Amino acid sequence: MAPLRSLVLVLLFSVASFAAELNNKYFPDDFMFGAATSAYQIEGAWNEDGKGENIWDHITHRNKTFTHGGDNGDITSDSYHKYKEDVAILKAMNVTHYRFSIGWSRILPNGFTNQINDLGVAYYNNLINELKSNNIEPLVTLYHWDTPQAIQDIGGFPNGIIVDLFADYAELCFKLFGDRVKYWMTFNEPKQPCNHGYGSGDYAPGIQSPGIGEYMCSHNVIKAHAKAWHIYNDKFRAEQKGQVGIVIDSNWWEPASDSAEDKEASETKLHFTFGLYANPIFNGDYPKVMKDKIKERSLAQGFKESRLPPFTEKEIAEIKGTADFLGVNTYSSSLVSHDKEVDKMAMGYVKDSEVKDWFDDSWEKGASDWLTVTPWGSRKLLKWIKDTYNSPRIIITENGYSDFDGTLDDDKRIHYISTYLSSIKDAMDEDGVDIFGYTVWSLLDNLEWTFGFTNKFGLYNVDFNSPNRTRTPKKSATFYKNLIKTKCLVDKCVEK
Ligand code: NOJ
Repeated sequence: MAPLRSLVLVLLFSVASFAAELNNKYFPDDFMFGAATSAYQIEGAWNEDGKGENIWDHITHRNKTFTHGGDNGDITSDSYHKYKEDVAILKAMNVTHYRFSIGWSRILPNGFTNQINDLGVAYYNNLINELKSNNIEPLVTLYHWDTPQAIQDIGGFPNGIIVDLFADYAELCFKLFGDRVKYWMTFNEPKQPCNHGYGSGDYAPGIQSPGIGEYMCSHNVIKAHAKAWHIYNDKFRAEQKGQVGIVIDSNWWEPASDSAEDKEASETKLHFTFGLYANPIFNGDYPKVMKDKIKERSLAQGFKESRLPPFTEKEIAEIKGTADFLGVNTYSSSLVSHDKEVDKMAMGYVKDSEVKDWFDDSWEKGASDWLTVTPWGSRKLLKWIKDTYNSPRIIITENGYSDFDGTLDDDKRIHYISTYLSSIKDAMDEDGVDIFGYTVWSLLDNLEWTFGFTNKFGLYNVDFNSPNRTRTPKKSATFYKNLIKTKCLVDKCVEK
């Protein structure tokens, strides 16, 4: 056979077999399809119109090696000035929902409610109104990692005062925007700001306190979340009729073998990553395996008590049941096994789990060093969440693919999104997981935290070299638009 002909046949065959593997049933008519972003990653205007400094502004301005190439969010995708254009491109993609976050220090420059920045409030009012007038529902995250620096100056998340400060901030947002916002997410992926911000120290605010500060952070995040939920429940729900949830992320941790030990390692790792936050909120208190392991290791290390702070019985009761829905960010999988050689004296939440994790070499990867293309893992994670937390209502608040160049010809992103959505739909159809929506990460190329502008997740390319930050649709934007129109991943779907 001529080489060209055989190449065409191979290509046709691989496209056909990829399509044949996709779920072929329609998504429900009311399934929420949207796109997601966060304030620090897209807004820019870091010191305009009265915004206060946040911990990422602070650290990136002082330490030029903290992020790749010294990149920061000073201007980034400039959405503060271009929000109307961003709503227009959301509209062009047909999305019904937009998930964005409020910059705490944009509306409260010092973090406290004694000083409200009216221009910051006006920005979010304008954005919400622009969305509503285009029939796009806002899904609002209150905290996407950008703590006001003034709060960090008094200790940040490990200081218990944050519980009241966050609750005050949340209450203000409910009051200001809750007439139009019906979906609130208190915290986005608290694992990252806690473990990286106060454990390993490679995220803002850069505190290295493995196994201590990171757990104090998680502890206060959970209390702050619950307090905000109760405020909404007691003071706003009856009139505003909205919902309050939280966004938690985890890899799927695939046991490296069929051995009971590796299966247990997978379960343990799931509890250390997802369960740390989900268990207190859905089942009450921290997962038993975390309490046991951390206590045992802490005592062996000479501490008087566990490094994982305990909840009181009263707190356990107040925290349990404080999520009207659960946001799940799912991107990747790893292999895991019991870490037999773990140093008993080592501190930190990865060491405390006594589980080691790595990637299978054969798995395809994105630009981000943590991102493997493993859609089957999302399905397993979703089923585990359903079984472990008594079938919560779930929205996939993030899922997406990174490349280095932001190419417009992003077939790999289309492949990623469609295979993950197919697995998500399988989880709905075959495993009975209650999933009501999906917001792809991300609407735009943006600042990928310490990776700077090197890892691009957008369905729209942003030209970071042009002062105008020109947005250009990638192939995936057209794909997504079509998917939202047809609610179907293949050429022709069958009814469920
Ligand atoms: C998780 C975070 O919520 C978001 O800020 C980040 O950009 C994406 N995942 C991709 O890493």
